[in-house]
Amino acid sequence: MDFNGKVAVVTGGATGIGYAVAQGFLKHGGKVVIVDRDPAVVEAAAGLGAHALGVVADISKSGDVQAYVKAALDVFGKIDCLVNNAGIEGKIAPVAEYDEAVWDQVIAINLKGTFLGLRHVLPVMIAQGSGSVVNMSSTAGVLGTPRMAAYTSSKHAVIGLTKTVSGEVARQGIRVNCVCPGPTDTKMLRSIETMINPNDPDGVREAYKAAIPTGRYATSAEIANVVLFLLSDLAAAVTGAHYMADMGRTQVGAAVTTVK
Ligand SMILES: NC(=O)c1ccc[n+]([C@@H]2O[C@H](COP(=O)([O-])OP(=O)(O)OC[C@H]3O[C@@H](n4cnc5c(N)ncnc54)[C@H](O)[C@@H]3O)[C@@H](O)[C@H]2O)c1
Repeated sequence: MDFNGKVAVVTGGATGIGYAVAQGFLKHGGKVVIVDRDPAVVEAAAGLGAHALGVVADISKSGDVQAYVKAALDVFGKIDCLVNNAGIEGKIAPVAEYDEAVWDQVIAINLKGTFLGLRHVLPVMIAQGSGSVVNMSSTAGVLGTPRMAAYTSSKHAVIGLTKTVSGEVARQGIRVNCVCPGPTDTKMLRSIETMINPNDPDGVREAYKAAIPTGRYATSAEIANVVLFLLSDLAAAVTGAHYMADMGRTQVGAAVTTVK
């Protein structure tokens, strides 16, 4: 894997999976712009060294997206890779009780934020005649996830958006894929565990782990490796794909032979 001379923009890069992608991209020789609505992104970028830039932006706001594109071009001159990673989990509630404002917020960030990233970075890549994009979906992008309707709908939509846009730009030398992580040990998953049972998030964690074929959560670095592969020329033949990185969660059904 070689990102020498390449520039990536990673949204939601202050922490979790996005931060791990930024670390990996730098390790393989590239330069990175990490974007986050959390001002901690500036300090996070400083900790990553001279080839990293932190930009505070809300990906659901068109003006903020245009500003991060401009910052990347001003500082590094081009954008070879885009990772539309920032996302939120919303609330845990059935549709019959789901808060409308939270619904709007989840769709605005997870879906519209991904669209806006594509809307404002693809023209740069089209002008360059090359580029690679990874959008962040989830196992909730392919499975119904009761009590997480906004999140699940947004992540299904990210797969549809990925397939569609990949066909629009394939002849212009641009690949667009998405990754569907299973449970990954980040602050988002901790928040979900706590919402499910505020009195016993550790109990939720143990029960969930037991339902995963590998018996454990993924690390951010493990998910980042799949993102980095898809960004890289090693995946030159791959576009429009949704890559499961879920430790078998969606592929291995509960069977009598797996009961311990
Ligand atoms: N952790 C998991 O188990 C898991 C599983 C499947 C998919 N994912 C997806 O992976 C991505 C990263 O998740 P994570 O677990 O690292 O989450 P995280 O909550 O640890 O980090 C997400 C980052 O995105 C930022 N962010 C949120 N809304 C933003 C906005 N409007 N503008 C800019 N930045 C914003 C947050 O400030 C945070 O730094 C998300 O899209 C998530 O849905 C995570």
